[in-house]
Amino acid sequence: MPKRPLEHPLRPGLSQIPTPVQPPSPDLPTALLGNLTPAQFMHQYWQKKPLLVRQAISDIRAPLSRDELFELAGNDVEARLVTHFRNQWQMQHGPFAASDLPSIRQRAWTLLVQGVDLHDDRARALLERFRFVPDVRLDDLMISYATDGGGVGAHFDSYDVFLLQVHGKRRWRIGAQRDLSLRPDLPLKVLQHFEPDEEWLLEPGDMLYLPPHIAHDGIAEGECMTCSIGFRAPSTSELTTQFLYYMAERGEMSGQLATPYRDPRQPAVTHPAQLPGALIEQVSAMLAKVTWKPQHVAAFLGTYFSEPKPSVVFEPPRRPLNEARFIQQALKTGLRLDRKTILLYDNRAYFLNGEENRLTGLKKWLPLLADTRHLEARRFVTLSHDSSVTALLYEWYCAGWIQIGACH
Ligand code: SIN
Ligand code: CO
Repeated sequence: MPKRPLEHPLRPGLSQIPTPVQPPSPDLPTALLGNLTPAQFMHQYWQKKPLLVRQAISDIRAPLSRDELFELAGNDVEARLVTHFRNQWQMQHGPFAASDLPSIRQRAWTLLVQGVDLHDDRARALLERFRFVPDVRLDDLMISYATDGGGVGAHFDSYDVFLLQVHGKRRWRIGAQRDLSLRPDLPLKVLQHFEPDEEWLLEPGDMLYLPPHIAHDGIAEGECMTCSIGFRAPSTSELTTQFLYYMAERGEMSGQLATPYRDPRQPAVTHPAQLPGALIEQVSAMLAKVTWKPQHVAAFLGTYFSEPKPSVVFEPPRRPLNEARFIQQALKTGLRLDRKTILLYDNRAYFLNGEENRLTGLKKWLPLLADTRHLEARRFVTLSHDSSVTALLYEWYCAGWIQIGACH
């Protein structure tokens, strides 16, 4: 069992912001995808078949050290501990104090911390590299730490994932099997039968892309850290329910559904508890008449996908600058979105952390801010002449949605 501590560069201080990393451009080959262009990757592999990339990020370092990850697992984050001691699978949910975790000298355990990108700029910067996929699909960056022999068992996921090895080695076996039945007796998803057809040992910088439903099992060889870049794909039932709530909440259906139930032809009944057939017919006809426009769907999708996760809390600046000083600073360093901010847009509106607003008047710069997640100082020079724009940006700064400074 290796006792060597994880190597880690000096933690950047508060004033040092990680170097900007922009997503690769769609038509340029990139090492991240094994020298495919993002366009080729999306066409040939995305949602279709696995791809192993050796040295996707050759100078990779774990975004968080082991100790930083353990500390984060003690906070208000989604963390799980999976142990495989004496051939028994067990799972516990965090938060975990350092003393809750097994010793790093003990074999076969894994700590998984979800949503690290919301807590750390280096993790967020890593996630940014995958923005050749639309933001609405990007979910989070999970980091797993495992001791020798650690893993979470052979399983499948319902979502696409990039598994990036960031420290130590992990042996992955994968299989495109049809039988995805799970062992019923376990607290975690483990396949009853695993039939791997390929196997690789991943070293730091190597990456494996898996589309949904590919069976996989990754076992640490020595102390190991893996980053999972995960995607989201809400079910039809989730989207339908949320859409109807959205429409009802905004009164978009009130005109259509204003007519109350009427039953002038209702006869007297001997079975008062029975649902009247006429009621079922009338409500069915009423529901069939509910209509909406594509712009309602777009506005719903913008608010739904830009809604921060329930655990997200924005941190307004502790000692906010006044508006004049804010403008002065932004003129020097530019602005960037906070790592937790979700900003989306279409041609009518923009959606900022779950709120919809009209795009009119902001078309020249807001899409750029949303796509690149920053506004360079020289861009801000032009914007600073418009007091309604500076007032809006200042409001976002006071709310903790944007920050002064270069991008992540
Ligand atoms: C892990 O990082 O240990 C597991 C990730 C996965 O299999 O999805
Ligand atoms: Co998985």
